[in-house]
Amino acid sequence: MLIKWKDQFSIDGAIIDDDHRNLLDRINYIVTSIDARCCAKDASNAFRDLFRVTEAHFRREEALQKAASLPAAQTHHFDHDDILASFRIHIDEIEYSLSQSNDQEKKRCLSRSKAILYRWILSHIIGDDRVMIDYVSAMQAADDYWRTTSLDELATHMDSPAIERHPKSLAG
Ligand SMILES: [Fe+2]
Ligand SMILES: [Fe+2]
Repeated sequence: MLIKWKDQFSIDGAIIDDDHRNLLDRINYIVTSIDARCCAKDASNAFRDLFRVTEAHFRREEALQKAASLPAAQTHHFDHDDILASFRIHIDEIEYSLSQSNDQEKKRCLSRSKAILYRWILSHIIGDDRVMIDYVSAMQAADDYWRTTSLDELATHMDSPAIERHPKSLAG
């Protein structure tokens, strides 16, 4: 069963919600592909895209939180890094499993993956990110780049390991 966007998921009625919808759509696409028994390469590419876009979303949240002086910003940043680290391990496991010839093992791994993705996105949207709700107005103080650039465009900058050198990066 796919998870559709609900009004109660809303954080800011703006860019953060747009990002979360984007992530949810991507996860639903992956789940649909898994159910349709997509090929290993498609699944691997979709996971890698999701990782890149998730990283871009996290960097946006961190920039907006920093601009808003959100007290929990540092902890939230560490949580994001933990999520990305476990996501990376999960992608490695998926790719290893898909490279094996054992169909049973592939099926088991992909089906476990659906549960992991939905558990992650829901705990992120309706759990961790609620800390931003009281700071939505203050987040408007952030640079336009972080407030208005679409997630897909933001993600293109994540391809470079030199993200920290981007002129609009957090380090700037
Ligand atoms: Fe988020
Ligand atoms: Fe977050």
